[in-house]
Amino acid sequence: MSTAVENGVSNGVNGVSNGVNGVSNGVNGLLEARRNGHAPAAHVHDRWDEQFLPPPLRIDDQARAQKINARLSDLILTGATLRRVGEVFEREIERGLKEQPSSLQMENTYIPELPDGTEEGLFLALDLGGTNFRVLLLELRGGELVKEDVKQYHISDALRVGPGQDLFNFLADCVLDFVRSEGMENEKLSLGFTFSFPMKQHSILSGELITWTKSFKCGGMEGVDVAALLQKCLRARNLDITVRVLLNDTTGTLVAGAHIDPSVGIGVILGTGSNGCYMERASRVQHWEAAHERVHDVCVDVEWGAFGDNGCLDFIRTDIDREVDAGSLLVASFTFEKYIGGKYLGDILRAALAALTAERLFPAAPKPNALATADLSMFEEESMRGSWECTQATLTSACGTPVSAADALVAQHVARVVSNRAAQLVSVCIATLLRRMDRPYVGVAVDGSVFRRHPRIARLMDKYIALLAPKHKFSLLAAEDGSGKGSALTAAIAARMAARQ
Ligand code: BGC
Repeated sequence: MSTAVENGVSNGVNGVSNGVNGVSNGVNGLLEARRNGHAPAAHVHDRWDEQFLPPPLRIDDQARAQKINARLSDLILTGATLRRVGEVFEREIERGLKEQPSSLQMENTYIPELPDGTEEGLFLALDLGGTNFRVLLLELRGGELVKEDVKQYHISDALRVGPGQDLFNFLADCVLDFVRSEGMENEKLSLGFTFSFPMKQHSILSGELITWTKSFKCGGMEGVDVAALLQKCLRARNLDITVRVLLNDTTGTLVAGAHIDPSVGIGVILGTGSNGCYMERASRVQHWEAAHERVHDVCVDVEWGAFGDNGCLDFIRTDIDREVDAGSLLVASFTFEKYIGGKYLGDILRAALAALTAERLFPAAPKPNALATADLSMFEEESMRGSWECTQATLTSACGTPVSAADALVAQHVARVVSNRAAQLVSVCIATLLRRMDRPYVGVAVDGSVFRRHPRIARLMDKYIALLAPKHKFSLLAAEDGSGKGSALTAAIAARMAARQ
C-alpha cells in the first residue's frame, strides 16, 4: 500500500494508491501459476480467499467468540462468493445495456466527452440528493474554477415525503433566494441540475425519475421530466435561468475527477447512497434517443444501488439484511445500496447486535435508530487505536443498559465485519468496470461521506479491487464535490457541444 492512502482520503483529489502495486503475494502467486499454465495449487487459492476475510474476534471468552463468529458467518463473503457476485454483475450490465430485463438501469447520460480545459462561463449548479439542498454559483475560466459561492438549504421531512410539486417549488424558491443574495435575479444564467436519483434520460437535459431512494419519497412524480419541472418552476418566478444539463452525482464526480486527472474514467459515490458511472464504448449502448454517429465513448450511469432487486443476488442476503430492508423507507427496493450505503450501515450494525442479543451473546439490543453509520465509523476508528471507551459509552446509551469492555470489543468486531462486506461489494463493482473498460490505467474518482469519513474503507477497497482485477491498474482518487463542480463543468461541456453543432 502506498502511504498516500493515509493522506489521500480527505484532501481534495489525491491518489489513494495504486491497486496493482498493492497486490499481495497471494495474488502474485496465483497469477504466476496461471501464466506458467499450471493449475494454481489449493493453498494459493486459500491464501487469495483468506485476504478477503476480516480478522477473527479476539476476546477472552473463546466459547462466546466461536458462537458469535458462527452467528455472523453469513455476513462474511469469501473471494469465491465475490467472484460470483462479479459474474452476476457483469451479466446484469450486459442485459441493462441491451435494454433487456436487468436490475441495473445502465442509463445513457448522453455525456460523450470529459473536460478538456476549455470550459468557460458562469453557471448555477443545483445539488439534490441528501437532506440538504445546495445552490452553487461557479465561474470557470480556461477550465479552471475561479469563483464558487454556495448556500445550503435544509429540506424538511414533510417536503421529502410530500407531493413532488411542493418539493420543486421549494427548490425554485431556494434558487430565487440565492440569486437575490448574489444580486443576480435579473441575469440570464445557465444551470446544471445534479439530481442524485435513478432516471430514464432522454437527452443531456431531460430525464424522468424512475424511483426515489435514500430518504425521499415524494408523490406524483411518475413519468415527470424533472428538468422540465424545475424549468417551469423557475420561469414561474420570472427567473431567466435555463437548465442546460441534468446529471447524476456519480457523473458529476467522474467529470470533476477527469478535470483534475484525465485518466479518470469511473465515478463512484459511497455516501448515504451508492452508485457508479463509467465511460462505456458507445457501440455497446443500445439506448440512444439522439444521433450519435461520431460518439466513441459515453458515460453510463450504472445505478448499482438497485443491483439484486430482481433476486439475482439473493445468495448473499442474510436475515439481518431482510430486517434492515423491512424497516427502511422504500421496502424491497435498492437491495444492494442497503448493503453498502451510509443510510443503512448503522442499522445493519444495530440489527446484527440485536441478532446476537437474541442468542444471548450480547447484553441488549440497541434501540431502533440508536446507531448511525457515524457510530460504526467511530467503532472502527477506536478499534484501530486499540481502545474501546467511546464504543462502550455509545453502546451503553444505545442499548439502555451497561455494556462491558468485552461487549464493546464484540460490537467493534461486528462493525468491522459489516464494513468489510460493504468494501468488498463496492469493490466488486469497480473491479468489474475496470475489466470491462480494459484500459492500461484508470483513475476512479470517489466521493461520499462513507468514503471520506470511514477510517478503513478506502484502504480495504484499494486492496479488494486489486485482488479482484489484478491485471488492471487503477487509483482511487478522493474527488470532492462532484455534485457541485462536476455539475458546472458538465454544463460547460454541454455548452461546448451545442456551440459545435
Ligand atoms: C441513487 C443514485 C445516486 C446514489 C448516490 C442512489 O440512491 O439512486 O442515483 O447516484 O444514491 O447519491
